[in-house]
Amino acid sequence: MRFGKGWVFRAIALSALPGIASCSGVQSALSPRGVEALRIDPLFWTSAAVGLAVTLMVVILVAAALYGPPRWRERLSGDRMLIGGGIVLPIIVLTGLFTYGLLVMQAGAVRGEQETDATVTITGKLWWWEVVYEGPDGKAVLSANELRLPVGRPVRLRLESDNVIHSFWAPQIAGKLDMIPGRTNEVVVEATEPAVSRGQCAEYCGGAHALMAFYVVAMAQAEYDAWLAREAGPAVEPVSEEAARGREIFFEHGCGACHQVRGTEARGVIGPDLTHVGSRKSLAAGMMSNDAQAFARWIVDNQHIKPENKMPPFGQFSEEELSALAAYLDSLE
Ligand code: CUA
Repeated sequence: MRFGKGWVFRAIALSALPGIASCSGVQSALSPRGVEALRIDPLFWTSAAVGLAVTLMVVILVAAALYGPPRWRERLSGDRMLIGGGIVLPIIVLTGLFTYGLLVMQAGAVRGEQETDATVTITGKLWWWEVVYEGPDGKAVLSANELRLPVGRPVRLRLESDNVIHSFWAPQIAGKLDMIPGRTNEVVVEATEPAVSRGQCAEYCGGAHALMAFYVVAMAQAEYDAWLAREAGPAVEPVSEEAARGREIFFEHGCGACHQVRGTEARGVIGPDLTHVGSRKSLAAGMMSNDAQAFARWIVDNQHIKPENKMPPFGQFSEEELSALAAYLDSLE
């Protein structure tokens, strides 16, 4: 069976598409916007370049062996070529790449020991992220599913888990690091420019592993300080009548047993802190846009959106009650 040239070109073009599509966008490791990510960036390009060079060399040698004059073919099948190209060269190339990789990684370990004046503790949950900042007065500020970073300032991330192993991966900021129960892994990160990027859990952690994402918001230092001061404060009072009604429903139905809304009697710690949930980039750990419709959908249908998550679906509300509850949550900015 023979394929025409057109088929070959089409196959090559098609197979390149997913690669090209993943080279840009909010979750690409190829658009580094953090000191750590910039440091490990050459590792990819070096490995890719060496891999390409080796592939080209092999293709050329195979072509020469198949179609070259007898003189070349004889030389290619000699012992020297087999031992040199088949054993010695791979050892040199792989040892070189391995050593280079270790040196790049070592630089990261040294950086992890550096002193920082800002720490964020992130805990992997099933399947979301608890994010705890140090507030302006040193008190812990509880948040979730989003990491805010001040540009140009090193921040220590303490990565933990109280269930299974997760892996924290914000590709534009740094490499992956596992979150292991009973252990704290640390990495020092520093955003280099204001930008919003996306991260994802990178270690299989159960059914909804693929639905465990987050956003990283890197902002100018002054803007970050203002944000943190606001985030440390209590929830705003509802302004609309509908939101006020929503707050009543929130307490009547015991939402506060699992969720905290600072400044109210809701003190639950099983689910994400909702004090300023309305100001986050996403809902359900990167799965939905953050608006009243999404809140309503999540409350009723969360087991379809994120199967087996710990929140039961609440289908008992009338349309009006649901809309009020969603309006209240959306108002928590
Ligand atoms: Cu958490 Cu995969």
